[in-house]
Amino acid sequence: MQSAWTGKRAPRSRCPALLLLPLAIALLSSAEARADAAETATGARNSCVECHRDPDFLVTAKKLYDYYQEWDVSVHRQEGVSCEDCHGGNPRARDKKGAHGTEVSGGLTAGSPVSFENIPSTCGGCHDDIYEGFRKSNHFAHLLKKQQEKQGPNCVTCHGSINATVLNVNTVKKTCERCHNEETENHPEIPEKASDMLNRFLSIQRYYRYIGIRGEPADTQTFFAVMDERVRDLSVRWHTFDLPKIDSETRLVIDQLKAKRAELRALEPAKNP
Ligand code: HEC
Ligand code: HEC
Ligand code: HEC
Ligand code: HEC
Ligand code: HEC
Repeated sequence: MQSAWTGKRAPRSRCPALLLLPLAIALLSSAEARADAAETATGARNSCVECHRDPDFLVTAKKLYDYYQEWDVSVHRQEGVSCEDCHGGNPRARDKKGAHGTEVSGGLTAGSPVSFENIPSTCGGCHDDIYEGFRKSNHFAHLLKKQQEKQGPNCVTCHGSINATVLNVNTVKKTCERCHNEETENHPEIPEKASDMLNRFLSIQRYYRYIGIRGEPADTQTFFAVMDERVRDLSVRWHTFDLPKIDSETRLVIDQLKAKRAELRALEPAKNP
């Protein structure tokens, strides 16, 4: 697969997402995204969407309507991921009972696909490599701890549920600080470290851009083929939250990118005498 950077595309505004574009492309193909998430696979109107977007709910059940609205502006919607992909149920049945079946239930119902403990595997249905990484984490081991201060975060704690967003160097600290702070005495140094790490992810992105623009396409294509895989691995590794390992692997990637940049810089005077 050709790297998006070697294609010299303009960077997207969502920076961390750009870093993980290879991952995004892999996901797209695995998620069987539909063109229009308001339709079922056969093109019929999706009954979950049809019913839940009823403006009457704005008055009678505002909170219910909020969930619909959140989905409506989400990356998931854009990618063709619809209600039933996370909640289950039958989007071809027109009535509520038929559509909800036994599967659709609220997050507080045990066994619901969106209950606190089931969320990682539900998201993992598509984000399977990240889920694999997450299962190895200390967070996953603490997911089922009952005391609030001992409970680990799940995907939604950090990304939001329906309109998932990606944390960046500016937002990550606040999220980690919810649990890692002086008061909880649960590794209060973590937020700062996480921010440093995401900063380095940004550096990787800058090197990618530099090399993509200056390198000869035939040469950089092979280089990026290798690097893309390493960067994709980093995103999986990130979700193990094994910070020392993430640290050393990020350094390794940066060193390789730096060496490539130096190689290109050395060539520059020859190109423009
Ligand atoms: C403790 C917080 C935290 C938890 C828990 C967490 N993530 Fe993340 N996730 C992040 C951060 C921070 C990033 C951005 C780092 C990066 O760029 O890889 C990220 C990146 C991602 C991305 C890449 C975004 C992109 O644009 O490609 C996806 C997808 C993702 N996470 C999904 C998940 C899923 C699914 C789970 C649960 C199995 C999960 N995350 C659990 C913090 C978290
Ligand atoms: C004909 C209308 C209708 C259809 C079709 C419908 N829903 Fe609902 N849904 C509702 C209403 C009304 C509620 C509010 C709670 C209730 O009355 O059960 C609701 C509640 C929910 C809830 C919250 C459940 C809870 O217990 O808190 C989820 C999740 C949900 N729907 C998802 C879906 C999905 C997924 C589909 C499609 C497979 C779907 N709905 C189809 C009307 C509908
Ligand atoms: C990417 C996965 C995803 C998609 C797509 C999605 N949801 Fe959800 N939804 C969740 C998760 C996860 C929760 C649990 C909320 C939480 O813990 O923050 C949730 C919660 C809800 C709730 C509240 C349930 C409760 O516990 O009271 C409703 C209602 C709901 N969603 C309806 C919908 C509707 C309608 C659609 C489509 C228009 C939709 N969702 C699309 C993941 C999704
Ligand atoms: C049916 C497949 C599917 C399910 C289930 C799913 N996702 Fe996604 N998700 C996607 C696709 C496709 C994309 C777009 C490619 C990308 O950006 O990674 C995406 C994108 C994302 C992103 C990146 C958003 C951005 O701004 O770039 C995050 C974070 C994310 N999902 C988290 C979650 C979480 C959390 C859940 C569970 C509540 C979940 N996903 C469930 C398919 C899915
Ligand atoms: C909902 C609470 C919560 C949030 C939010 C949270 N964590 Fe954690 N984290 C925990 C818990 C609980 C543990 C387990 C601590 C223990 O071993 O007793 C933990 C452990 C860790 C560990 C392992 C520490 C060690 O040396 O054993 C790392 C690393 C970590 N978290 C990173 C992060 C990062 C990075 C973020 C933000 C992106 C984050 N956490 C957000 C609750 C949270």
